Amino acid sequence: MRFRALPGFRDFYPEQMAVRRTIEAVWHQASRRAGFQEFDGPVLESLELFTSKSGPEIETQLYAFSDKGERRVALRPEMTPTLARMVGARAGGLPKPIKWYCVPQFFRYERPQRGRGREFLQWNVDVIGASEPAADAEVMAVAIDALRMLGLGEQDVVMRVNDRRFLRRMLQSIDVEEREEPEVLGIIDKLARDPAAAKRLEERLGEKRAREILGWCERMPLGRAEELESVLEACRDYGVEAYLEPDFKTVRGLAYYTGPVWEIFDRGTQLRAIAGGGRYDELIAAFGGPDLPALGFGMGDVVLRELLQEKGLEPEAPPRVEVFVVPIGPEMLGPARQVLARLRERGVSADAPYGGTKVGKALKAADLIGARRAVLVGPEEWAEGAVRVKDLASGQEQSVRLEDLE
Ligand code: HAM
Repeated sequence: MRFRALPGFRDFYPEQMAVRRTIEAVWHQASRRAGFQEFDGPVLESLELFTSKSGPEIETQLYAFSDKGERRVALRPEMTPTLARMVGARAGGLPKPIKWYCVPQFFRYERPQRGRGREFLQWNVDVIGASEPAADAEVMAVAIDALRMLGLGEQDVVMRVNDRRFLRRMLQSIDVEEREEPEVLGIIDKLARDPAAAKRLEERLGEKRAREILGWCERMPLGRAEELESVLEACRDYGVEAYLEPDFKTVRGLAYYTGPVWEIFDRGTQLRAIAGGGRYDELIAAFGGPDLPALGFGMGDVVLRELLQEKGLEPEAPPRVEVFVVPIGPEMLGPARQVLARLRERGVSADAPYGGTKVGKALKAADLIGARRAVLVGPEEWAEGAVRVKDLASGQEQSVRLEDLE
């Protein structure tokens, strides 16, 4: 019987794992240099945590089941409810603002397609306890910072920004009732992707009001969007203004957002969103915690990798080891192992063949794994307590005493 990974799940062979680690390293670096601390929570949570506040989109995508204790549980599809739960439980003792980040793996039962899997990594950066728009702008700048580190500039990606309060106010101005809002927002959210959405909007609100909304979507009525002004201004200070594009169609699928919302796309808009975030000021209280404002974003690895690949920016796998140790003759296998142990002890990554002592073959292997130096262990030099170190790029060789080897 032959097994394969389940649909939508990925195997990470070493080359793919190396790319994943490079992306993760950039995420960690961008978070830490902006003063965020890493946290994590459980992979499995009670089902209700995710069904209560995230909205219907996530609910239908949950990997949910009953465990042996007959608890209804779900694999985490996102971090925000867990974060709200954890902060809510300890909020009193945590100095504000709380600046946390994480790089967890999530699971969503979606139809696997380009840019969407059933398992993915998502970098989360969140601030809790800050109502200032400067906090929204800061996390936006942190997201851009990571993309820049990966080589993506303002010519490659765009951040579309809107505000849920503004959306609501505009809908109220054309007499959309409060109870209709979630549905209408859901349709606006689909306008950019689903050609049938405009028709649905017209069916729901009539031609006149639908046309008004479609007009705002085509041309953001920025002059009326005072809710966004201070966030955009702070973004200017953070130097990410060139990435921004105010956009009425940006709503975000999740139900818990209450203020600024935003998404990052590739400029070619061929791909799904790379990242999305926003303010969710009511979520922590909704999970029984204190009334604390909160905001943040999630950036997935799937679309990001596709875009990096497309742009020829996919990080290269680093060399497996720095040094390859080559025994010259079978009696030198033991001494070569001793050299290997010494190098590793000194913190140098090194490898050597287990057996087989053809020097040419060993040097070829060294080249293949990207080693920068070969250490040749021959009988005469070994007798004098030395080895030959060869720079594999220049071909230069020199004798080095064992105690100086590093
Ligand atoms: P989200 O929009 O559901 O937001 O996901 C954010 C990003 O995760 C997406 O833009 C996409 O790159 C990636 N992503 C989502 N689903 C998949 C999938 N099935 N396959 C591959 N990538 C995917 C949230 O999850 C919010 N909790 C983010 C947040 C944090 N808001 C505030 N703090």
